[in-house]
Amino acid sequence: MSHLLSNENFSKVSEFIYRKSGIFLAEDKHFKKLAKYIDAHAKNFGYDSFRKYFYKLRFDDKEGREFQNLMNAMTINETYFFRENDQFEVLANKVIPELHETMQSSRPIRILSSPCSSGEEAYSIVLHILEEAQVVAKRDIEVVGIDINSTVIEKGKRALYNERSVHAIPKNILMKWFKKNTLGYELIEDLHGTVDFKIVNVFDSVQMRKLGKFDVIFSRNMLIYFDDASRKKVAMTFYDMLNTGGYIFLGHAEYMSRIVSVFNAKKIDSTLIYQK
Ligand SMILES: C[S@@+](CC[C@H](N)C(=O)[O-])C[C@H]1O[C@@H](n2cnc3c(N)ncnc32)[C@H](O)[C@@H]1O
Repeated sequence: MSHLLSNENFSKVSEFIYRKSGIFLAEDKHFKKLAKYIDAHAKNFGYDSFRKYFYKLRFDDKEGREFQNLMNAMTINETYFFRENDQFEVLANKVIPELHETMQSSRPIRILSSPCSSGEEAYSIVLHILEEAQVVAKRDIEVVGIDINSTVIEKGKRALYNERSVHAIPKNILMKWFKKNTLGYELIEDLHGTVDFKIVNVFDSVQMRKLGKFDVIFSRNMLIYFDDASRKKVAMTFYDMLNTGGYIFLGHAEYMSRIVSVFNAKKIDSTLIYQK
């Protein structure tokens, strides 16, 4: 089947995506997905050639809608509640109590889930704090979730999940904090609004700076889609956004020591975290 996208033009679009989002697309793995997206998009929006589409994407995308659509189509948003759960346990039982002891009592503990995808990671943080970190009952805690994909951010705000998303939540916790209805599992009303969701590209330094400083950053399962140069750039952005003494959690397949050497690695129980 012929596509609007040729192999030669694949490298042009993938270079553009890489430059704007850090996401590295390999031709052998991603050509089909990108070509199908461009064909369907061209049909819906009336582009009759690749050239016209690419012109619009690069030079005439004033409100960023074309780029947003492309990101919504090309990002991989796989996630679920309580994924790599040992990290949430360490957060609630070790890191938050430690920050509570050392931080001025009037300051909120600020936690960033970057990327948060459809919110499962950010709400897992909230649920672990509610269930396990009562020591900080009087401490204000803010959780912010960011992702480049606007569809998943809307899903996070809606807080309605399918069976697969909630499969790892222990039944008693699921029953306590979710309402099951015909559409799926919805977080109870009281927990809607416990995460501040925003569409943010981690490479957009202006947007990132606006988020302010954090005490904890979760950045799990995003850096794997980047190359070394992009990983380094994002790691240094996170470093700047963390307060001194703050922590960063990476995915189980991601190691800060292979990216930058500015953090101190700390092993708590068997969980590796990184401190500024
Ligand atoms: C596999 S999900 C990981 C979600 C969650 N952290 C977890 O571990 O379950 C990766 C997410 O990274 C997001 N992403 C990729 N590039 C990004 C960028 N430049 N800025 C912000 N988010 C990005 C994708 O949209 C996707 O939702």
